[in-house]
Amino acid sequence: MRVRVLGVGMGAHHVTAEVAEALRTCDYVIAAAKSADDDLLAARRTIADAYGLEVVAVPDPERDRVSTGSTNEDAAYQRAVADWHEARVAAYETVLRERGGTAAFLVWGDPSLYDSTIRIVERLGVDYDVLPGISAPQLLAARHRIVLHGVGMAVHVTTARRLRDDIAAGQTNLCVMLGARLDLDGLDDWSIWWGANLGTVDEVLVAGRVGDVLGAIEAARATAKETAGWVMDVYLLRAPA
Ligand SMILES: C[S@@+](CC[C@H](N)C(=O)[O-])C[C@H]1O[C@@H](n2cnc3c(N)ncnc32)[C@H](O)[C@@H]1O
Repeated sequence: MRVRVLGVGMGAHHVTAEVAEALRTCDYVIAAAKSADDDLLAARRTIADAYGLEVVAVPDPERDRVSTGSTNEDAAYQRAVADWHEARVAAYETVLRERGGTAAFLVWGDPSLYDSTIRIVERLGVDYDVLPGISAPQLLAARHRIVLHGVGMAVHVTTARRLRDDIAAGQTNLCVMLGARLDLDGLDDWSIWWGANLGTVDEVLVAGRVGDVLGAIEAARATAKETAGWVMDVYLLRAPA
């Protein structure tokens, strides 16, 4: 039994030659099915089909959604995520036991960023390897034709949930992921390079001074959601020089 964790970028057109070669060694794809019309599951099916691989869709266990804000709530959040991972491990173990062979997990973007697959696969206790894919921050940078940081400087990759704390802690160049909404009050003079649904037909980009472009971003976000049925966005936020 073997597992291959394969980054697939933002869809079939981002599958690297290395990942394509790995897919040819796999017997099937295991994918979490979050709901019947899961768009990311559909994207995984397209890739699997191209390599003649069956997709074993495993219903994703319910996750206990907890609010966050205080230390206690963060502990509750961590526990909810750990329980959810545990349930996923159990579900995947069953499939691996029944099927054996080499299973592929197709990870949206790159497995190193805000993705649980490696943590879950580690706990399966089987041999596994990991191959990279194109991540959302990489695609954002390419689309805007920018470098994510100044010469020899740093970029802080974070989540929308942590943004305020990170800015308060002194971060001035942040790549922000996992945002349900934009909360940029008081950052009017910062610069933003924003992108949603990157790599898809509904891709949209906006860049400028936050105070000037926030309205355009909110409108573009709403349009992307309406057209595609889902929206995922990522942005680089930089303090004024
Ligand atoms: C669960 S994380 C997965 C990240 C992924 N592993 C990667 O390498 O980009 C999902 C977040 O990634 C970003 N993201 C993923 N796909 C995106 C896309 N097509 N366009 C813009 N942002 C995207 C968004 O910030 C989204 O909330």
